[in-house]
Amino acid sequence: MKLTKYYYLVIAGLLIISCKNNNENDLAINDGETSSIEDKVSVLLSKMTLEEKIGQMNQYNGFWDVTGPVPENGDQAKKYDHLRKGYVGSMLNVRGVKEVMAVQKIAVEETRLGIPLIIGFDVIHGYETLSPIPIAESASWDLEAIKKSAQIAAKEAAAAGINWTFAPMVDISRDARWGRVMEGAGEDTYLGSKIGVARIKGFQGDDLTTPFSIAACAKHFAAYGFAEAGRDYNTADIGTSTLNNVIFPPFKAAKEAGVRTFMNSFNELNGIPATGDKYLQRDILKEKWKFDGFVVSDWGSISEMIAHGFAKDGKHAAELAANAGSDMDMESYLYVEELAGLVNEGKVDIKYIDDAVSRILRVKFELGLFDDPYRYLDEAREKEVIGSQEIHDAALDMAKKSIVLLKNENNILPLKKDGQKIALIGALASDKTSPLGSWRIAAKDSTAVSVLEGLKQYSGNTITYAKGADVSIGKTEFAFEVKINTTDKSEFNQAIKVAKQADVVVMVLGEHGFQSGEGRSRTELGLPGVQQELLEAIYKVNKNIVLVLNNGRPLTINWADDNIPAIVEAWQLGTQTGNAVAQVLYGDYNPSGKLPMTFPRHVGQVPIYYNYKSTGRPTLPGEDVVFWSHYQDEENTPLYTFGHGLSYTTFKYSNLKIDNTFSKNKTVKISVDLTNTGKRQGKEVVQLYIRDVFASVTRPVKELKGFELVALNPNETKTIELILSEDELGFYNNQGAFIVEDGDFEVFVGGSSQTELADKFKL
Ligand code: BGC
Repeated sequence: MKLTKYYYLVIAGLLIISCKNNNENDLAINDGETSSIEDKVSVLLSKMTLEEKIGQMNQYNGFWDVTGPVPENGDQAKKYDHLRKGYVGSMLNVRGVKEVMAVQKIAVEETRLGIPLIIGFDVIHGYETLSPIPIAESASWDLEAIKKSAQIAAKEAAAAGINWTFAPMVDISRDARWGRVMEGAGEDTYLGSKIGVARIKGFQGDDLTTPFSIAACAKHFAAYGFAEAGRDYNTADIGTSTLNNVIFPPFKAAKEAGVRTFMNSFNELNGIPATGDKYLQRDILKEKWKFDGFVVSDWGSISEMIAHGFAKDGKHAAELAANAGSDMDMESYLYVEELAGLVNEGKVDIKYIDDAVSRILRVKFELGLFDDPYRYLDEAREKEVIGSQEIHDAALDMAKKSIVLLKNENNILPLKKDGQKIALIGALASDKTSPLGSWRIAAKDSTAVSVLEGLKQYSGNTITYAKGADVSIGKTEFAFEVKINTTDKSEFNQAIKVAKQADVVVMVLGEHGFQSGEGRSRTELGLPGVQQELLEAIYKVNKNIVLVLNNGRPLTINWADDNIPAIVEAWQLGTQTGNAVAQVLYGDYNPSGKLPMTFPRHVGQVPIYYNYKSTGRPTLPGEDVVFWSHYQDEENTPLYTFGHGLSYTTFKYSNLKIDNTFSKNKTVKISVDLTNTGKRQGKEVVQLYIRDVFASVTRPVKELKGFELVALNPNETKTIELILSEDELGFYNNQGAFIVEDGDFEVFVGGSSQTELADKFKL
């Protein structure tokens, strides 16, 4: 015991001596025998003034060219002054070792207590080297690969001085009009929860103190993906059952996986803006789920509560947000301006401030920032890691795994590698920026391998390229508002000429990379601009078309599905796009992706999702009966269902068995045989769905409750076992209690949500 005490005193002494700065920080955090993080947090808290505490709750966007001259006037000067006083706890969008070093040094060496900043950034699908957009990665259903992708992103971002990402977005969304579906894992709660957890584990690693891992952030709490009519930032009005069973579970899973931060959301939910919602942030997240990290507001979302009609003015907004449990103010400037006054007036209890600050400090300690605030700041590492081969290899691996083969008639794919005349058509085929997708702040323009470059490298075929038509007009690189070409067809003829002479036409069509993402909602889901006309014009002269889609959301492509023999969903695959597409088109990689979101036939069907509820009139009762739940002018079914995706080989499902030992050990074991009946090695995502046939709160017609990615050689059979436990069999009732009810369950297994085998059991 004595030895331990002596040891700590020596270490504390050494730390104090080795630190050249003259602030009080070292005394504050190395006081006595403060071995646990909790002790350190409370010692530090006890030394902080009210203003310093509130400073920790204040986050500023990178506010000046920090390695340049110090700002003298205006807002930037004010922010700089706040930083020097210790009134800034975090910054976002400061990146690169030099830049981060400049602000971190001020925080650590010039402020009274020297508390390091936590540096946030939207590392959504990579930092400078980009992996596929998140919805694409989700199509892999490959949790290990997704984890690895996040790990690699963390490594690259951390090398640039970042220690906190605003990801993963775990918002479930059923509305393809919403531009941010590109940033999530799609429509399903079960899959979304698993993917969210994989991403968190990838970002955070096993040890947050290594300079290769960063803190993650589950966002946007809550219901942001249910924006009415798919219009971003719009109101969400949601029943209890959907909130508890669809929206909350991925957030709860994130908490259980140890995510260190949450972000609240822009939307109001049932009349309360999420940022000012005590029920969400205090009652559910912090009390019921016992989350001990911190909650950051979304950008300006505290002040936006005025426009929502919830707060009278900025001061009122700060009061509402702090009382509701928003711990850190991202860019509203309201905590730093108003909170001290509110505490002094007794409108915000100091216990809420102490709680928020403790949470923020806790995460900073966990990141090891107090041990070495410069641990992320190593220029040699920055040089070595960013854009390294390891990172590109991982991005390529993820990109191949994200591709979904939607249709492949007459085995037009894979393409032959030699002796073919290939016409490559579409502006997106040669684009080196759009495939990077939305959320690519640190990636440089024109750094993606285009499909044109990829295809050329992979074969001895003759490839003739014709653009056909631009997708967007004007400046597109880093253009926030993309203008779509709806008129210019002047290059159609050249493309038609090229197509006429080809054995196979590969057309790369779809959305520009900036047509999805934040603020980019659409009312139409077809191919943008003149691309549909281009497709039809080429089809008239050559029907041998492989359509490669680039998009950040499900599209309505009925005509293509009716007419085009092969359709490949290639999303926006990031830096390695062209290589991944080429490997799949030539069959060097056998696709195994499955859709994480339903593709509608018509935008009027949206929101359309596989796990809908039955109505009282679900099926056509008889010829010419109009009174059942349907549309007059379109089928109820989707074009491509959730979980759909083909392979260059074929699979057969057989021998579905249910071993119901629920009464003994609370599990039901489902087993099924999967056989590769084709001629190639391939992977299949075996999907298990259940239906709780009747329940005290109605359950969906089908719910994904298990899956496994299985690799098989030709003629090989494997028996796959999937376990249903209480977690999978139960649901939340309208009082928020998780219950498992007796009764009949149906089980469905197959390679998509339109499953192949079915059986039943009773609980
Ligand atoms: C987005 C967040 C993002 C934040 C910081 C907001 O507009 O909604 O998801 O993390 O900006 O860039």
